[in-house]
This record gives sequence, C-alpha cells and structure tokens, in this order.
Amino acid sequence: MDTGFIKIDPGLDYEKICEQIEPAARIIAEGGLVAFPTETVYGLGANALNEDAAKKIYAAKGRPSDNPLIIHIADIDSLYEIGKDVPDAAIKLAKAFWPGPLTMIVNKKDNIPYTTTGGLDTVAVRFPSHPVARALIQKSGCFIAAPSANTSGRPSPTLAKHVTEDMNGKIEMIVDGGECNIGLESTIVDLTDSKPVILRPGYITLPMIKNLLSECEVDPGIIAADSLKKPKAPGMKYKHYAPKAELTVVDGSEDAVVETINRLSDELRKNGKKVGIIATESTIGRYRGDILENIGSRDDEETIARNLFAVLRDFDEKNVDRIFSESFESPNVGQAIMNRLLKAAGHKVIKAD
Ligand code: TXA
Ligand code: MG
Repeated sequence: MDTGFIKIDPGLDYEKICEQIEPAARIIAEGGLVAFPTETVYGLGANALNEDAAKKIYAAKGRPSDNPLIIHIADIDSLYEIGKDVPDAAIKLAKAFWPGPLTMIVNKKDNIPYTTTGGLDTVAVRFPSHPVARALIQKSGCFIAAPSANTSGRPSPTLAKHVTEDMNGKIEMIVDGGECNIGLESTIVDLTDSKPVILRPGYITLPMIKNLLSECEVDPGIIAADSLKKPKAPGMKYKHYAPKAELTVVDGSEDAVVETINRLSDELRKNGKKVGIIATESTIGRYRGDILENIGSRDDEETIARNLFAVLRDFDEKNVDRIFSESFESPNVGQAIMNRLLKAAGHKVIKAD
C-alpha cells in the first residue's frame, strides 16, 4: 500500500486545520487507517464503530486481539454515546482534565463492538486536546479508536518519522503535526469499580486526581515486576517500549550510579561492545560510553518525559549492544517515566549503593 503523507502545523487557526485534515478525515470515514498526532503520542486511528476498520489496526501493529483500543472523542457529551451508567466521578474528571491526557474506563454501550474493546464489556475513552486530533475526529464524523501508532512492543512514536519507521506501507495516511508535547501515553483511570484505580500512570498524576475524587489508588500490578500481580489494563502485561539492545536501570546516589555505569561500560567496551548511556544534564559529562544521550535536566521532568521514547528509538538506529540508564524516581510525572523505563528494561535494575 502507498502511504499518503500530509503535514499540518498545529499552530494554525483551527478552521485552517479542519480544511487541511479533510483527506485524512475522508479515509477514516471510509474505513481506512490514519496515524495522527495527539498531545501524548501519535495514534493509529480508525472508525471505532466499524469492526473491519478496527481489525486493520491490530493487523498493522501486530497487536494481540485481546488488547483493547482507546476511543477518541471531540466533546464531553460523546462519552454518553459510548459509555453506559457513566458515574459522577467521570464527569468530575472530564470537566477538570478534558480535553487532555486522561483516559477513562467505563462500561460500554451495546453499539461499541467487542473488536474495539478486546472482548471486554468496558471501554476506554479519551478527549484529546491536540487540535489536529480534534479536527480529525470532528471532520470524520466518527469516534476514532486509536492505540499508539507503533509496531507492538516498540517505543511509542512522538514524531511522525517514528510512525513512518513502523507503519510506512501498512496504512493509508500519516499526518505529521510535529513533536508530541507530553511524550508519554495518557493516564488511564478505571471507573468501573467502587474505587477509581489508575491502570497506567501519565501526565495526570494520582495527587491531581485525588484532589477531585478523594478516593483513588494505583493498580499495584503497574510497578510490580512479578507476574503474580497481573496489571488490569491488558496492554500493560505485554513487553513494551523495548529497544533492541538489553537495557539496565541503575539506581542509587549520583556518584555511585556514575561509577557503576562507567565500570560496566568499560568492561563491555573492552570486549568490543557498543554501549549506550541515558544520562541527565548534570551527569552526562562524567560518563564513558559510545553513545551518550542527555535526556534533560532532573529538575524538569516534563522534558525527560518528552524525550524518553525518542532516545530509546535512537539507540536502535545506532545499533548499540547494551544500554544503561539512570533512574528517575519521583512522585509526579516521574512515576510515569519510571513505569515506561522499567518496562523497557524488562525490570532489570541494579542497585549501585
Ligand atoms: O495517550 C494515549 O493514550 C495514546 C494516544 C494515541 O491517545 N493511546 C494509547 O493507546 O496509548 P494504547 O492502545 O497504546 O494503550 C491503551 C491501553 C492499553 O494498555 C490497553 O490495554 C488499555 O489502554 N485499555 C484499553 N481499553 C481498556 C479497558 N476497557 N480496560 C482496561 N484497559 C484498557
Ligand atoms: Mg501503546
């Protein structure tokens, strides 16, 4: 298949964006696949109510069919056309965080096909804030089912060129809207039980949600490495974000981390291996490796979040044999960063002190 490619500047007037999105919107309405930018990561979209279209998403990504898709909407009212018995908590969260990087799980209405929900009676819904995403949903006249636009298992795309790497020739069109601002996928909150549960950490954090709902917890399966605690979001159990080379996270005081990574790197390089290192602004100058990636300043979690997936993909391009990363423990967006990094590392962590 020839994949069409259009570029839209998200800074344009919304009306102009709506004009330029027309060919992509037509493809969605006709049952095809379009990759498009959102504020979190690029999505791979199809008409959520068209089973054949949804099936094509699974095929293009190589995604297991039991892993449900998020349905994207362009106004809060659409939540009631998709969800059944939508709880008050959902309205509170929608008013506070939509449009934005929050996905809510509610019970599904009968019109939502099981192909889209991976066989579940619940459905994930998100109203993205990115103007290109909103224009695509509005102009297509569809609810758009969209997972991240990567091949299953690879880091999520935060630039159109990442989407091209994974999807060229497999989908009808890629819409380039520049870099995704947040860079990590949306926070997922399950509202189908008596207590709200965060199934995937993201830019909207537990304290932000607790401010509104008083009760909310984080699914223990998210951080746990052991397979006994199965995460509740089906997608969280799969190997994810993994670069081709083995990645190890090194945790401890700054000096101990630098020393440990350098020692391991020296050994590997002596044996002819190419070593990649993920470091921060203050430490990057202290490392010995072949490819050193500065992911940002430790005081600026948002930049680290925005860079993470691009850095992981970069190592694939540069064919490194081993990767070491510093650790990014923190209570806020740091939790989402660590969640993705630990998954990419298959939970391999070395304590440096
Ligand atoms: O930021 C995002 O959420 C991006 C952009 C494109 O919107 N989308 C995204 O989709 O990350 P995806 O498919 O890569 O991740 C969706 C996650 C998966 O882990 C899936 O298992 C979970 O959401 N999920 C979807 N529906 C669910 C449901 N009904 N119950 C529990 N988990 C669900
Ligand atoms: Mg994904």
